[in-house]
Amino acid sequence: MIAQLDAIHQDAQAAIEDACDEAALEEFRIRFLGKKGALTQAASGMRDVSKEDKPAVGQKLNEVRQALTRFVEARSAQLLALKDAEAAKGIDVTLPGRRPQQAAFHPLTQVMHRGISALRQMGFTLAAGPEVETEFHCFDALNTPEDHPARNEKDTFYFADGHLLRTHTSSVQVRTMETTKPPVRIIAPGSAYRRDEIDSTHLSVFSQMEGLYVAEDVSLGDLKGTLERLFRAIFGPKTPVRFRPHFFPFTEPSFEIDIKLQPKGQDPRWIEIAGCGMVDPNVFRQICESRGDDVYDPDKVTGFAFGLGLERLAMIMWGIPDIRLLIENDQRFLRQFASA
Ligand code: DAH
Repeated sequence: MIAQLDAIHQDAQAAIEDACDEAALEEFRIRFLGKKGALTQAASGMRDVSKEDKPAVGQKLNEVRQALTRFVEARSAQLLALKDAEAAKGIDVTLPGRRPQQAAFHPLTQVMHRGISALRQMGFTLAAGPEVETEFHCFDALNTPEDHPARNEKDTFYFADGHLLRTHTSSVQVRTMETTKPPVRIIAPGSAYRRDEIDSTHLSVFSQMEGLYVAEDVSLGDLKGTLERLFRAIFGPKTPVRFRPHFFPFTEPSFEIDIKLQPKGQDPRWIEIAGCGMVDPNVFRQICESRGDDVYDPDKVTGFAFGLGLERLAMIMWGIPDIRLLIENDQRFLRQFASA
């Protein structure tokens, strides 16, 4: 039987050389070590071995089994190493590693923070309101007549129940005054929605920042001083700011604000950046009616309001040519703002 075991050992030694993949190795294992394999069969011959020879034969059997098991293990490790080497082929391990990317705020968040920080220094606090609004808060309370084009179904997203997606953050003015007595000095950054065709300067969801200051004797001078300071904080202390008469239903007088900037490689020019004005007495009257008191009586309080588009601000600030870059989340674009 010893001779038989030696023969199995030799056979296995030759056969393992041919086990050149995992399937062949498994075949080898079954052939020699499996339930019906050569070694198991040989082991069944132990029955017939004489008592004196049993220890020696038993030892031999164990040795051969261990040797065969080692063959399988060694071959398996070899095959794995080969597989690794195959997978790593063409990889240059001497190349430098990749730097982890630095996290940063989105450019829109960055402009919003700048605006908020400048206005907080002037005593404004943050306010918010719902994006799904009533017609009352978005339009009626803001002195915007029924037939105003902004209220058109072509321009505004309406829900079947008459609610709408707010077209501007100005609705937060109304919500704030309904619940807060004057003086109020708030800024409300947030999303606004319009049924605009999306192109390089329009999105159907965009961001605005609304401001409102109501107290006794708030003047046009306060409005100009506050907004000049805001835009100079964002664009530099010497930035020229001008107020151009305009019309908004909720302010009287109303203005558009332009700042003068020199885009890279171009002549300086005036760029429109925000809308503003003195709160229309009709807005105050409507608020008094909603509240059922007279703390916003236009004979007692005055105020100014303003609103600006944050995408536009970011585009001007960094010379971004297409508004869609701000929502596409393309890392190649966004990465440029990581150190700002
Ligand atoms: N709501 C205006 C818009 O979306 C912006 C605006 C203009 C807001 C004048 C104001 C304001 O508060 O006084 O275009």
